[in-house]
Amino acid sequence: MPKIVFISADGRERREVKAREGQSVLDVAHAHGIDMEGACEGSMACSTCHVIVAEADYHRLPVPSEEEEDLLDLVCDLTTTSRLGCQIVITEALDGLTVRLPRGTNNVLLD
Ligand code: FES
Repeated sequence: MPKIVFISADGRERREVKAREGQSVLDVAHAHGIDMEGACEGSMACSTCHVIVAEADYHRLPVPSEEEEDLLDLVCDLTTTSRLGCQIVITEALDGLTVRLPRGTNNVLLD
């Protein structure tokens, strides 16, 4: 069972949780009570599932789609390793993936 590590926005808290293959990072966060909104429930319309992937892990992810990149352009706290949690699908190859929560999110559905 792959493990995913969530780091709080201030970097002080670290939680390692078990994930199932096929879940998204958003699904895993919700299953473990991690504070990630996911207002559009994974339909790639809100950006409230923004996560900052650890630099060492970023290359393990498939490249983001154009739609994901367009939405990422609208997030606050954007970094070079930002991704949408609803678009990262867990596989065994992602065991140990570490993501940090951003300092804030903006729901572009509401803009
Ligand atoms: S949950 Fe809305 S874009 Fe990911």
